[in-house]
Order: sequence, then C-alpha cells, then structure tokens
Amino acid sequence: MTGTPPDGRLSGVARNTQALGAVGLGEGTVRRIGRTWVTAFYVALRNLKMYPLENAVVQKGLEDLTKLSAELIDGDGECEFRLAGEFLFLNATRMKLDLDNYTSFSFLLNRCRDAGVGQIRFVDRPTVRDWTVLLSFLINPQGKTAGERFELLNTRLNETNVGVFDLAPPPESDDNPEDEGEAKERAKRTYQQSVTTTKEVLNSVRMGQSPNVKKIKRVVQGIVDQILTDETSLVGLTTIRDYDDYTFTHCVNVSIFSIALGRRLGLTRLQLYDLGFTALFHDIGKSRVPIDIIQKPDALAEEEWRLVMAHPWLGVLALFQLREQSEFPYRSMMVAYQHHMKRDLTGYPRSLRIAEMTFYSKIVAVADAFDAATSRRVYTTVPLSPAQVLQEMRDNPRRGMDPVVVKAFVALLGIYPVGTLVVLDSFELAIVHAVNPIPEMLSRPIVRIISDDLGNIEHPGRLFDLAEKDEAGTFKKSIIKTADPERYGIKVGDYFV
Ligand SMILES: [Fe+2]
Ligand SMILES: [Fe+2]
Repeated sequence: MTGTPPDGRLSGVARNTQALGAVGLGEGTVRRIGRTWVTAFYVALRNLKMYPLENAVVQKGLEDLTKLSAELIDGDGECEFRLAGEFLFLNATRMKLDLDNYTSFSFLLNRCRDAGVGQIRFVDRPTVRDWTVLLSFLINPQGKTAGERFELLNTRLNETNVGVFDLAPPPESDDNPEDEGEAKERAKRTYQQSVTTTKEVLNSVRMGQSPNVKKIKRVVQGIVDQILTDETSLVGLTTIRDYDDYTFTHCVNVSIFSIALGRRLGLTRLQLYDLGFTALFHDIGKSRVPIDIIQKPDALAEEEWRLVMAHPWLGVLALFQLREQSEFPYRSMMVAYQHHMKRDLTGYPRSLRIAEMTFYSKIVAVADAFDAATSRRVYTTVPLSPAQVLQEMRDNPRRGMDPVVVKAFVALLGIYPVGTLVVLDSFELAIVHAVNPIPEMLSRPIVRIISDDLGNIEHPGRLFDLAEKDEAGTFKKSIIKTADPERYGIKVGDYFV
C-alpha cells in the first residue's frame, strides 16, 4: 500500500497517520488505527493509575492519546467509542480481539463499565486536559452504582468545563448496576444450576435415555452470559472442586474455562455457546463406563484403564443419541474424541498421524488437563498446585498442549492461577483472587489476604492488589511461594462462595 513505510519500526501513530485519507476511513484502516488508539487509551489509563500526573511517562501517554484521537477525527470526521457486551466498537467498526491486545481491551472494558460508561463520542478534538479529567475519573470512579458513577462523571465534566465528550451509559441489557455481593450470588446460582443439570443429563445418558438438549443449551447460555459480564466470580467458583460431585463439577469447570479461553481468543457469542456445549459434553463417554470404575479410589487395573481410555470414542457414540434433538453435534463429537490427544501421539485414542486437532479440541484439552490435574479425585491423592500445573503445561512439551491456547490460559489465570494459596513476604497467607489486568503484572495478582502475619486464619479476609507500590516505588507485598491449602486446613473454595 502506498504511503506505508516498508518496515514496522515507526511508531504506530506515525505509520497509521500516513495511511489516513482526508475523507472517510475504510473499515480496515479504522481497525488498524483503532488498535493503536485502544492501546494508547489503555497505556494512558494505566500510567495514570500507577504514577503521579506530573510524571513524564503519564504526560507522554496523554499526549499520544490526544494526538491519535485528533487524527481519527480528522480522518473520519468523527470519533465514537462504544462498548457492546464484550466488544469494543470504534466508529461502528468492531475491534478485533487477539492475543496481543486483549489485556488492554479487557482493562478498558472494565474501567468504562465500572464507571457506568458505555459510549464516548468526541464532538471536537479533546485536549490533554480533557483527557486528564476523563481518565482520572475512570481510574477512580466515585459513587456506589454504575448509574450513580455515570451521573457523577457528567457532573465532574461540567464543573471542569470539559464539553468535548458526549457520554452515554451502556445499553439496557449491558447495564449492570449491582454490587459485588449480588454478582457473586448470581455466579453461584449459575454454577449450581449448571452442576445440577449436568448431573441430570449425564445420569440420563447413563441410563440409556435421551437427555434434554434444550435444557443443557440454556445452561451453557447462562455460563456464557455470566462470563461476558463478570468472569472473575465464575472462574473463582471452579476452585470449589467438590469431591462428591467431581464428575459433574469437572464438566462445568471445563466448560467455564473453555468459554473464558474462547472469549480471549476472539470467538463470537454464538461460537462461545457452541464451544461451551462441546466442553460440557467432552467426557460424556464416561457415562458408558461402569460407575465403580469411574469412582474407584485405588489405582486402576490394566483392563479398567482400557475401559476408561475408551471414553473418547464412547463419547462419540453417546453423542449420536443427541442428533435428533439438535443440529448434528459434529463439533462435540470431535472434542469428545480428541480431548486426550497430544501433538506427539502419546495421548489417546492413538492416531497414526500427528494429530490435527480442531480449534475447540485444543481449547478443551487445555481446560480439561488443568482442571483434572488440580482436582482432588478419588484416584489421585495429592493434587498439584494450580501454579505447578500451569507451569508444566507451558514448559513441558510432552504435555502436548497447544502453546497459543496455553498462553491465553496463563493470561486468563496469571502465573499464579485463581485459587492458588500463596505466602507473602509479610508472612501473611493469601488466596489468588483474580489475574492482574496489567499485562506486565501477571505474577502480581489480586489476592485475598486470609491470615495475619502469625498465620491466624481470617474469614472472609481482604482483597489486595500485589501491583500496589509504596511511595518509594517498591511493591508493598510480594509472593514468596505457593503453599498447600491442606497443610493449613484451608478450603480454598470457601473464599469464593
Ligand atoms: Fe476425558
Ligand atoms: Fe475431562
């Protein structure tokens, strides 16, 4: 394309500006510039959050954002930034989410949603001062509910004579002015309903009946909707790992992880429904293996292992039963068949060629391996810590996991996955609550501190952001090591319900 420098060393701003026309930008161009703009917006917000306003880095971030916004207005005659569900639109073009930019996307989405903002339209070119007023509020919103925060933000803009932004709240369905307790309750309901329905469905398959596909679809839709509005609560609930209901909670957990992963890998809502459905049924073949083998507390005899290892293709057979109730469940069959395959052919069922797994199979394989390895099952005694499992999956090629999917999984859960018990350098115990939205802070999650420095356990504890620094610029608290919750008599799941 003419006007584009041959190498990528120029700053995104400069490169994109050269590609701008004087009138209306094409969709591709908006998308390309939009990526740079979203990053600039995110960087400015993040810097402002971490450093004082006078800091040169903060000023530079604000200037970049100002410059880029002006260029967008000049090119397209307007600039409108809008959130819809989990998507960002810039001048009616949907911004594509991928591995490189989803952290900035989700950070932006969360900040705006938190402040009750669903749309920002520039009626003129914003100045550095305009941006400073807006971003300062987004970082530190006042008010209890999203609606209240939105009102206060508008008041603040009026008071400071910032008239360049025309703001609107999120669309009705997106507006979610509930407090943290309500969000948690809703997540819990979704989780419990999912487990109950999965139990019903798998038991009916076991008894040779046809399960109610509509019901299971509703469950998956519930999980997807919940993940799109409040991912943290639902991902946190996967740490419950109920011993008695392992078979069913496992299916629900794998579905939750798969949907959250699929979302990060850019799947649409409809694709997420589809993926969640296949993930929920990935082990349906186990319903055709005698229950005493599935639940056997001791090591399995060779013959028993052979039966367990047949569950992928037994799953394909079981899914044939569903074909009259729904469109042909081809993708589910592929996932049921492939989820224990590995790239180096050491998995099962045996493949004669290097396994070419479907995209869904790769996602479900990662979600499945993680949940299985971190759960206390009847036939494993000591589960690995979530952090150990994740590290193994990432660093040991023999695990046969798809590296891109694992990378997305690490970004979803952090280096210390949600639910990991850690010891801090303050000698307090803490449970990892959520991954840090700042990408360089994957090893500094948001934690819930659950003890004092003598190890006296406290419930419910208090949330703490390990990215927080003191005035001297050193981190206030850091993780020294992970710990086994059993040793301290802690049930991690208790801190997520
Ligand atoms: Fe399986
Ligand atoms: Fe599984």
